[in-house]
Amino acid sequence: MFRKLFAWVVMGCIMLTGVGNAMSQSNPKLMTIIVLLGPPGAGKGTHAGPLSEHISLPHISTGDLFRENIRNNTVLGQKVKSFMDQGKLVPDELVLDMLFQRMENPDCVRGCILDGFPRTVSQAKALDAKLGKKSRIIALNFNVPDAVLIERISGRLICKECKKPYHKRFDPPRQANVCDACGGALYSRDDDQENIVRKRLEVYHEESQPLIDYYAKRKGELREIDSQNSKEQVFRDVMIALSSKD
Ligand code: AP5
Ligand code: MG
Repeated sequence: MFRKLFAWVVMGCIMLTGVGNAMSQSNPKLMTIIVLLGPPGAGKGTHAGPLSEHISLPHISTGDLFRENIRNNTVLGQKVKSFMDQGKLVPDELVLDMLFQRMENPDCVRGCILDGFPRTVSQAKALDAKLGKKSRIIALNFNVPDAVLIERISGRLICKECKKPYHKRFDPPRQANVCDACGGALYSRDDDQENIVRKRLEVYHEESQPLIDYYAKRKGELREIDSQNSKEQVFRDVMIALSSKD
C-alpha cells in the first residue's frame, strides 16, 4: 500500500516537473507528436489511454480506426478487413487519408499520441511531410521478446466501447467480461489467434523494425522502454522517458 502510494507520488512529481518542462521548453507553437513503436502486444494500447489522460493529448490508434470501420461495415472497413484478418499491413493509400483526416480534428491542435502509425519508413516519411516544421516527434519504442508477446496477446480482452485492453491473467477486469472503465462488453480480436499473431510479428520484424533506425538517427527523437516490466513500472518509465530533454 505504502509502496504504491510512494510510486504515485514520485510519478506525480515527474509529471509536474519533468514532462511539463519537456513539453513547455519546446516552442509552444509546435505540435507534440508522440509515436508509440513496438511489436503487437508490446503495450502500446495499454499505455496510450492513461498517457492521453495525463498529458491531455488525444490517443489515435490506426488499428482501432480500422476495427471501427469494419464494425460499421463502411467501404473502408470492407477494403481493409482481409488484410487485417491475414495479419498483413493495410496498403498506405488506405491508411494515410484516414489518419491525416483524423489529425485535422480540433482536438489535435496541440498534437496527439499515434498508436500503430507509422509502421513503415514510407509512412514515417509521409508523416514528416504532413507535419512540416510545425511539430516535434518523440518516438517511444516498447521492447518485449516475441515469446512474451504471444502469451500477452493470447490472453488479451478488449472493451468493445472504449477499447481499453485487459488480460485474462495479468490484468483481469473486476467483473468477468465487463470493462471496469465504462461497463462495455469485452471481446477477443479476430487477429489475436496464434497463427495470425505469428504473421503479425513476422511483418513487424520485416517492415516496422527499420523505423527504429529511422528515428534513432534523428537527435533526441527515440526513447527506449523496457516493456517486459509490470504495467505500473512501464508507465513510470514512459513518464521518465517523456521528461528527458533528449
Ligand atoms: P493494431 O491494432 O495496431 O495492432 P498491433 O500493432 O498488432 O498491436 P496490438 O494492438 O496487438 O498491441 P499493443 O502494443 O497495443 O498491445 P496491448 O497494449 O493491447 O493493428 C492491427 C492491424 O491493423 C495490423 O495488423 C494491420 O493489418 C492494420 N494496421 C494498423 N495500423 C496500420 C498501419 N499504420 N499501416 C498498415 N496497417 C495497419 O497489450 C497486449 C496485452 O498485453 C493486453 O492483454 C495487455 O493487458 C497485456 N499487457 C500490456 N502490458 C503488459 C505488461 N507490462 N505486463 C503484462 N501484460 C501486459
Ligand atoms: Mg493496440
